[in-house]
Amino acid sequence: MQELLDDAARRAIRYLRDLPERRVFPDDEALAGLEGFEGDLPAEPSDPAEVLEKLDRLGSPATVATCGPRYFGFVIGGVLPAPMAASWLAGAWDQNAGMVTGSPVAARLEEIAERWLVELLALTPGTGAAFTTGATAANLCGIVAARHALLARAGWDVEAEGLFGAPPLRVVVGDEVHLSVLKALGIAGLGRARIERVPADGQGSLIASELPQLDARTIVCCQAGNVNTGAFDPIAEVVERAREVGAWVHVDGAFGLWARASRGLASLAPGLEHADSLATDGHKWLNVPYDSGIAFVRERQHLVGAMAGQAAYLIETERREPWHTTPEMSRRGRGIEVWAALASLGRAGLEDLFDRCCRHAQRFAEGARDLGVQVLNEVVLNQVLLDFGGDEATARAIEALQREGTLWAGGTSWQGRAPMRVSFSSWATSDADVERSLDALRRIVV
Ligand SMILES: Cc1ncc(COP(=O)(O)O)c(C=O)c1O
Repeated sequence: MQELLDDAARRAIRYLRDLPERRVFPDDEALAGLEGFEGDLPAEPSDPAEVLEKLDRLGSPATVATCGPRYFGFVIGGVLPAPMAASWLAGAWDQNAGMVTGSPVAARLEEIAERWLVELLALTPGTGAAFTTGATAANLCGIVAARHALLARAGWDVEAEGLFGAPPLRVVVGDEVHLSVLKALGIAGLGRARIERVPADGQGSLIASELPQLDARTIVCCQAGNVNTGAFDPIAEVVERAREVGAWVHVDGAFGLWARASRGLASLAPGLEHADSLATDGHKWLNVPYDSGIAFVRERQHLVGAMAGQAAYLIETERREPWHTTPEMSRRGRGIEVWAALASLGRAGLEDLFDRCCRHAQRFAEGARDLGVQVLNEVVLNQVLLDFGGDEATARAIEALQREGTLWAGGTSWQGRAPMRVSFSSWATSDADVERSLDALRRIVV
């Protein structure tokens, strides 16, 4: 075991050391090497050291350098040092974080991370959190908490009776709603197609004056951070309208929610503390390892009402029981890595992480403009949309950049156009990486 783990650490350290200088996306040779994994299930055991050697030899070159400093695709963060190291140690612990009795340490760190996050994001004290696989699962947690609360107020126990014969719920979303919310609505039995869509403006923000009449059986889903532009819905206005009639407001803040941790960015997202539920990702902007998301429910009892369950063999303690907050029972201790990120950076380090990424986005947009590339969005956060002179020219630029390998950014679809989307979500990106990426752009554009 000792030799094997030393070998694993050596290989991992070498991988990370080489990461800044390697191609961001694997080349054809590395991808062809994946064929080496093919073959039948071995009939007999083999030496774990050989298994690890093969994984590193064939697997490492075929990874996408999302943990490196010039990966700007989708909205994908890297991994900070402390959560990465914590993840290695927690891997050795192999704790079942589903209940206090399964892992007192995982449960306690999750409880502390919950409290720290509520403070950091200036949410309402006492807000409950669920540590999930990602923002899609966190959106699901928020929406089933909403379903629980609104139907309970209507005298219906949805966990016991299901939706058969239940009072109907309405769901209102902005036109730019993320697929993950639609998935969550479908899974929750609220329907992807029954939703009422509210028009969005040129940046993708829901137009508050276009909201339909709300009522106590309505869930309104807003967005903090549009996946393309980074724009925020006018959540404070939506919350005010919703509160008057007892509607529920859920906010998908997969990356935008972190703006609340920065004094310079918090004004983008006022009123979020009054939202009934919110979803965010740890594995995006908080830069903790996959997979990691967090759901927040302002009145914790609605999260617990939707998720809790009893079984005679389970031991329930006086403390916060993780399995009362998530769809899973047994699961890994995601809260450990979240705790490590928060503990290592502190308020100042976290603010610097989010501010720095936004500064990179500003500088990149400015540099692209200087090259004659059109920036399609107002760069309010960490996302930049570039048009290289029409969809075809943009597609050619994306292809050329990806082939060149200095950086990786992908295409998207935005209000009838097909720009390149560049997302600054990693702690590892330096000013020099931004300049180096602009140099790559210059070589492609000119
Ligand atoms: C706004 C928004 N919501 C939800 C998600 C889904 O997050 P995850 O892939 O972690 O489930 C994303 C992912 O990009 C997103 O940008």
